[in-house]
Amino acid sequence: MAAAAPLIRLAPSRYTLPRPFLKWVGGKGQLLAPLLERVAAAGSFRAYHEPFVGGGALFFELHRQGALRDGAVLSDRNPQLIEAWEVVRDDVDALVDALAAHKSRHGEAYYYQVRAERSSDKIARAARLIYLNKTCFNGLYRENRRGDFNVPFGRYTDPPILDEDNLRAGSAALGEVELHCRPFATAAADVRRGDFVYFDPPYVPVSKTAVFTEYQKGGFGEADQRALAGVFRSLSGRGAKVMLSNSWAPLVHECYADFTRHELSASRNLNCKTDRRGAVSEALVENFAQLRPARRLAG
Ligand SMILES: C[S@@+](CC[C@H](N)C(=O)[O-])C[C@H]1O[C@@H](n2cnc3c(N)ncnc32)[C@H](O)[C@@H]1O
Repeated sequence: MAAAAPLIRLAPSRYTLPRPFLKWVGGKGQLLAPLLERVAAAGSFRAYHEPFVGGGALFFELHRQGALRDGAVLSDRNPQLIEAWEVVRDDVDALVDALAAHKSRHGEAYYYQVRAERSSDKIARAARLIYLNKTCFNGLYRENRRGDFNVPFGRYTDPPILDEDNLRAGSAALGEVELHCRPFATAAADVRRGDFVYFDPPYVPVSKTAVFTEYQKGGFGEADQRALAGVFRSLSGRGAKVMLSNSWAPLVHECYADFTRHELSASRNLNCKTDRRGAVSEALVENFAQLRPARRLAG
């Protein structure tokens, strides 16, 4: 029998920790309110799964609310990202020391020196990723064709290189959490009836200038989107509560025609041209409400 439904507050918590320790492309920090509304609508669930965890905005919010009573399983196919999550969980003291060292030496020349470095040490690699993420232009994780991090220096006055309280709170939150570097299809194999799954994949591009699929080597094309829809359907058939974010795009409507699709309004700044920034529609797909026509949730 499923556990009692967690009490989900619909307003995201503002002042409590932990929060995402990385600023990640496509992070859901600005969309927490409508996501929480739908998680609350799902009712009770067992384990929580995020197969495209990125910075984990929804995971941390649900943790802050005490809503993850039956454990959480977080995955992503990016090995540097998952390694950083593991170091936060398992080696937070050493990570804090390494970030304090970066903070004391921070500057443009030092940034490019660290960007060029390769280390065989897991803690040094995690500290490098967090340091570069906090100090690079736009906080944008982007790799070139060789898989190198190639973002230029960001001119911030006082970048938050070391947020010790948040890292320690994050480490405590991750104590019992399973972390895996793996593709979404493998992650789905762990899901059981009554679990909750939140898929936040790279989005279907909505214009020729959209860059969503290009921020990591390998991309995420139409075949991946269709394979993901197949996994969504199969998890739904197995009795899991499944929710997915994507663009409000024809391919998404086609793939999830049998499921409820809410339209969300989100602001974006990932297009190359400034005049294309601003509000765009996103789809929030779920299998736990009755099938009904799409409706607008956030203005
Ligand atoms: C939109 S981001 C997730 C953002 C996250 N929800 C947050 O709040 O920060 C998409 C993530 O999917 C990961 N990813 C891309 N292709 C994947 C795949 N085939 N399997 C698993 N993860 C993948 C990327 O590394 C990236 O971290």
